[in-house]
Amino acid sequence: MDSLKITGGHKLNGTIPVSGAKNSALKLMAACLLTREPLTLTNMPNLADTRFLSQLLASLGVEVYWPKGDSECRLNAAELTSTIAPYDQVRKMRASFNVLGPMLAREGHATVSLPGGCAIGARPVDLHLQALEGMGADLKVEAGYVKAAAIHGLKGAKIVFPFVSVGATEHAMLAATLANGETVLENAAREPEIADLADCLNSMGARISGAGTATVRIEGVESLSGAQHAVMPDRIEAGTYAMAAAAAGGDVTLNGAPVAALGALIDALKRCGVDVDADESAATIRIQRNGSALKAINIDTQPHPGFPTDLQAQFMALMSIADGTSVIRENIFENRFMHAPELSRLGANIQVRGKEAIVQGVSQLRGAPVMATDLRASVSLVIAGLAAEGETQVNRIYHLDRGFERLEEKLTGCGANIVRVDGD
Ligand code: EPZ
Repeated sequence: MDSLKITGGHKLNGTIPVSGAKNSALKLMAACLLTREPLTLTNMPNLADTRFLSQLLASLGVEVYWPKGDSECRLNAAELTSTIAPYDQVRKMRASFNVLGPMLAREGHATVSLPGGCAIGARPVDLHLQALEGMGADLKVEAGYVKAAAIHGLKGAKIVFPFVSVGATEHAMLAATLANGETVLENAAREPEIADLADCLNSMGARISGAGTATVRIEGVESLSGAQHAVMPDRIEAGTYAMAAAAAGGDVTLNGAPVAALGALIDALKRCGVDVDADESAATIRIQRNGSALKAINIDTQPHPGFPTDLQAQFMALMSIADGTSVIRENIFENRFMHAPELSRLGANIQVRGKEAIVQGVSQLRGAPVMATDLRASVSLVIAGLAAEGETQVNRIYHLDRGFERLEEKLTGCGANIVRVDGD
């Protein structure tokens, strides 16, 4: 298994281009199932997860044209040869579950494996199913599969989510585009990726308003057409590199950054004493820290526009070298502190108590072999390794390949010392 060898202690200086957003791309790709015409996505991130979903789509009969390394992907679902997404494909990547609603809306039936739990929590899909049922789908859960039917099509409905779910909001939105009548989603998630999906669907002929607010209205249409859409920039990738620069020190400019989507992080970094210059019209964020100490602050993860759970692990790495004590509260997932014991291997002083991690900053981390069980946890170890003295070996980096495009290249371009070591 490959690993990353990081020799820490080098400041980061330079520019980093921000790639297309993984979590937007995955839902945009599922949108191709709603139309018989080609959907072309540009600014596509080349990641294990997006490649994996393209294989699942191909197994359903979608013609995928996406040369290796290319940022443009053409998906043509003129004919579907299957409406079944098997266990192996959905188990490996939860976002695959989102093919259910589009296939159901278009074909009137679909069978998709339940995704199961994962390292960061149980992650049920009950809200996804409630939304589809609310639109008139007949659902049966048998042998780990959801068998869905809507012989006369889906019907517009009012769906009130009991709590905010990004995936359920997106899934309901996808399905409702082809429903008969108006669907209203209340207590919808407001993550920027939802507005990106709505923009793409609207350019395919959907009638969606309010995406990005807590109430989304979808007026169902008879059919959707093809379109071309640029995937929004990845706010989590951008936020991760912002924290890498803050932790290692130096002067880094993120190019093509979704500034408006990163308000909570920018505010937190400023409160820590990091110099942040964010320019929305130029889509750049400049992060500078040269010699000044980091101040410990408390954060609470929340649905957007609050502090994102997908940046919590990286923030913990940063707080582990801040002056003072930081209390980090994880409100979205029940088991998202697995990076804490690994950060402790590098010398961090962290105690986890239920939903809270109490981080007592130390003056210096020291390199060690570490590994993590999910994507964001892995990259928090990279950040810590960049700031640590000596050598850190990050194992199981296939997690990183799921969500960070050209990570070593982007960081070494700013002076980091990172090499990929081939495993057996
Ligand atoms: C999306 O997951 C992202 N994944 C996650 O990013 C992100 O952490 C999460 O949103 C929150 O921002 C993708 O977009 C592919 P949720 P999602 O539904 O949609 C519970 C990463 O590292 N819940 O908003 O699955 C759920 O268990 C990943 O890139 C139910 O109980 O998140 C969680 O506690 C990790 N029932 C909470 O709601 C449901 O039916 C929020 O989950 C759905 C969710």
